Amino acid sequence: MIRINKNESPLRPLSNEQLADIIQQATFNFYPDDEYNRFKTAYAKYFNLKPTQITAGNGSDELIQKLMLIMPDGPVLTLNPDFFMYQAYAGQVNRPIEFVDAEDDLTFNLDTILQRIDDVRPAFFIMSNPHNPTGHQYSLPFLTAIADKMKAIGGYFVIDEAYLDFGEAYEIDLAPHILQMRTLSKAFGIAGLRLGVLIGTEETIQRIQRIEHPYPLNTITLYIAIYMFEHEKMTASFIEEQRRLAIKLRNIFESKVSDIIKIYPSATNFVLTKGEAAHSLGKYIQEHGFLPRLYDEPNMADYVRYSIATDEQLDQLAEIIKNWRIQYDLSKEA
Ligand SMILES: Cc1ncc(COP(=O)(O)O)c(C=O)c1O
Repeated sequence: MIRINKNESPLRPLSNEQLADIIQQATFNFYPDDEYNRFKTAYAKYFNLKPTQITAGNGSDELIQKLMLIMPDGPVLTLNPDFFMYQAYAGQVNRPIEFVDAEDDLTFNLDTILQRIDDVRPAFFIMSNPHNPTGHQYSLPFLTAIADKMKAIGGYFVIDEAYLDFGEAYEIDLAPHILQMRTLSKAFGIAGLRLGVLIGTEETIQRIQRIEHPYPLNTITLYIAIYMFEHEKMTASFIEEQRRLAIKLRNIFESKVSDIIKIYPSATNFVLTKGEAAHSLGKYIQEHGFLPRLYDEPNMADYVRYSIATDEQLDQLAEIIKNWRIQYDLSKEA
């Protein structure tokens, strides 16, 4: 089965030779004292930040859990649907969680969000942008309106930018109540090494670091990540390749089935499809060697999501979709 259900990278960012060199140099018999700072310096330089503006964890998963622990008392507010782990971690630490429900087409109305913030008065509001599962990227004015509202009620706004490397870069003015969360699991292709980053003002980052372990990341992960961000050109061209695959995936669905299936426009490495035909296509694809994301949740039963694969695999996927389409058209004629 070719896995296209978790929005992972089908490619590794480093060759076997590069990996062998890096691992030979990695002093994993020692605790990683300097490496964490070296990583933060390299990452900050790549993204034009200050190392003091970032903190990192074992995937953004761990950072979400930390936020649930360290943010001021009170409920967390998020979107429904959004990344499922927000609910899972709130549940683990008994933080009350409230939702803003999507419209029927899975969009979110800004006024509804602002009204919910007024009603719930959350300690923090977290949402993914670009949004999982729709792939939609919300605009800077949309985000700024939420940030301003959260500031007005004395709460924090956490923007989970896991897929931003596939979308359009934007610059939100960093303020103490704003946090941006990034991951190296998607475009950077190291999901298995578990590395997520939170970006904020120095004072907010210090608040989160109050519950940081002495050695938050392991030596191998740090050595690999340092190498990637100290080789900026290599890494930038890897990201370009990922973006190319994301466009190829979108084009396959757009060109082959968008006249009969709703395809959500995506600023990510996945596409979401909706409807009866979408479900039939999802099942067919699953029977032909690819594993898309089919949902158990009743409100998502109509949806199927697909993430990127290698060039050759995407060609195979296109062929499978073409064959399904022939059968589908014949069944409609009959
Ligand atoms: C929106 C969003 N945030 C965070 C994550 C988790 O990323 P990580 O691998 O850094 O824990 C995912 C993974 O699918 C995601 O979709």
